[in-house]
Amino acid sequence: MGAPSSERYTSRARWLHWLMAVLIIAAYALILSRTQFSKASEYRVLVVQSHFWVGLLILALAFFRVAERRRHSPPGITPPLEGVLRLAATTTHYALYAFLFVQPVLGFLTVMIEKGALPIPLTELQIPWPFATDDRFAERFEDLHKLLASIFYYVIGLHAVAAIWHHFVRKDNTLRRML
Ligand code: HEM
Ligand code: HEM
Repeated sequence: MGAPSSERYTSRARWLHWLMAVLIIAAYALILSRTQFSKASEYRVLVVQSHFWVGLLILALAFFRVAERRRHSPPGITPPLEGVLRLAATTTHYALYAFLFVQPVLGFLTVMIEKGALPIPLTELQIPWPFATDDRFAERFEDLHKLLASIFYYVIGLHAVAAIWHHFVRKDNTLRRML
C-alpha cells in the first residue's frame, strides 16, 4: 500500500539530515579555505582545528542519525521506486551513512598518529593520544581521508541532483518527505 504523499521523515530525522548537510559543507569549506592564510598564521590554525571539531561533531551526530533511522523506517515514495532506481538510491544512502562515520575517523587517526594529540581550538589544551606517533602511517590515513573527500564530492552531488530530479522531473514526493 502506498503511503499518503503528505507523510514525511520524522522531525528528528529531518533536522539531523539538514544540520549534518550544513556541517559537511562547513567541514569542506573550512579545510579548503586554509590555503587563503599563510602557513604559520593563527587563522590557518583556527580553520584547520575547526575542521577537526566540525568533523567530530558529524561523527557524534551520525550515531543519533542511525539510531533514529532504526527506530523509524522512512515513509514510502509515491509512486514507488522500482528496480535500478531503487538499488541506486539504497546504495547511495548506504555510502553516505558510511561516509559519516569513516571520514571523521580517518581524519581523527591522521591527527592523532601524526601529532600525538588533538588540539582544542582557541586554547593551549589538547587531548592526548596514548599510542606512539608514526609519520608514514599517519600519511596513509591522510591519503585515504583526502581520497574519500574527493570521491564524495561526486556522491553528495549525485545525491542532491537526484533529489532535485525526483522533485521536478519524476514529480514524486521524495524531497517533500525530507522538508
Ligand atoms: C565528515 C567529516 C570530514 C570531511 C568531509 C573532511 C574533509 C576533508 C577535506 C576535503 C580535506 C582536504 C583534502 C585536500 O586538501 O585534498 C581534509 C583534510 C584533512 N582533514 Fe578532514 N574531513 C572530515 C573530518 C575530519 C576530522 C574529524 C579530522 C580530525 C579530527 C580531520 C582531519 C583532517 C586533516 C588532518 C586533513 C589534512 C589537513 C592538511 O593537509 O593540512 N578531518 N578533510
Ligand atoms: C544539500 C543537498 C541535499 C539534498 C537536496 C538532500 C536531499 C535528500 C532527500 C530528498 C532524501 C530522501 C531520499 C529518500 O528517502 O529516498 C535524503 C536522504 C538522505 N540524505 Fe540527503 N540531501 C542533501 C545532502 C546530504 C548530505 C550532505 C548527506 C551526507 C553526506 C546526506 C545524506 C543522506 C542520507 C544518508 C539519506 C538517507 C536517509 C534514509 O535512511 O532514508 N544528504 N536526502
